[in-house]
Amino acid sequence: VTRSALVTGATGGIGAAIARMLVEEGFGVTLTARRPEPLAELADKLGGEGPVQWVSADALDDDAQRAVVDTHLERFGGMDVLVNSAGGGILAPFEEVGWRHVSRQLDLNLRAAVFLTKVCLPHLRAGAANGEKSLIVNVSSVAGKHGQPGLALYSAAKHGLVGFTEALNRELSADGIHSVVLCPSVTDTELAAPFIDQGISRESMIKPADLAEGVRFVLRSSRACLVPELAFFRSEGSLTE
Ligand SMILES: NC(=O)c1ccc[n+]([C@@H]2O[C@H](COP(=O)([O-])OP(=O)(O)OC[C@H]3O[C@@H](n4cnc5c(N)ncnc54)[C@H](OP(=O)(O)O)[C@@H]3O)[C@@H](O)[C@H]2O)c1
Repeated sequence: VTRSALVTGATGGIGAAIARMLVEEGFGVTLTARRPEPLAELADKLGGEGPVQWVSADALDDDAQRAVVDTHLERFGGMDVLVNSAGGGILAPFEEVGWRHVSRQLDLNLRAAVFLTKVCLPHLRAGAANGEKSLIVNVSSVAGKHGQPGLALYSAAKHGLVGFTEALNRELSADGIHSVVLCPSVTDTELAAPFIDQGISRESMIKPADLAEGVRFVLRSSRACLVPELAFFRSEGSLTE
């Protein structure tokens, strides 16, 4: 039986790198995000090496997310890994952020991952039933450990993801359902473009492959080895930004 993974935010730098690693590791992969063209392109690229499909869906639409999970199960018959990588934020002082953006940022960076985890959990539990390890990967941020100026809502939501992951491990890891939260500083993807204007060089940024290799390490370690959190730092940054 092919082990399988669902990856959100798959059109993004980090989601795509983790998806590529999962295909290399022999997983059947469902890629999801909103934009169909980059999803189709990535599925084409990775599909030569293993079973890959894509589904376009908005992370804020619960019905669409349920349909993504159904499509995954129809193709692969179960689920062993869930990667919650969809996310993003607007760089702006809290005083200037409109209420619409407050809900949207909390929903995208926290609620969407919680919802999808809830929907996928029975399948991840089944995946762990035969002594294997199931894995939930939540992509948080250094902003999930240390609140960042200009990113108050994003920081709040990403802190939420860290607490959610810790609680999941305390409830589920003994059953073989492990969760790991990734806490990277500025990573070289589209999302990091505004930081170049702030004088952060691309060379100093974390690469999406750094994160993918971290997740590969977690996947390859045994069920007895729980890796609750992975931190990633820029070459020129401090440990808190
Ligand atoms: N890059 C960094 O510096 C950095 C640092 C720390 C943490 N992170 C986190 O890493 C994760 C991945 O980001 P990235 O760096 O890979 O950035 P990215 O290249 O901008 O990717 C963001 C991904 O999220 C998806 N997405 C955004 N809104 C969505 C929505 N409403 N519904 C469904 N999908 C949505 C995007 O796809 P579509 O636009 O196609 O929907 C894209 O696939 C995010 O959670 C981010 O917060 C990034």
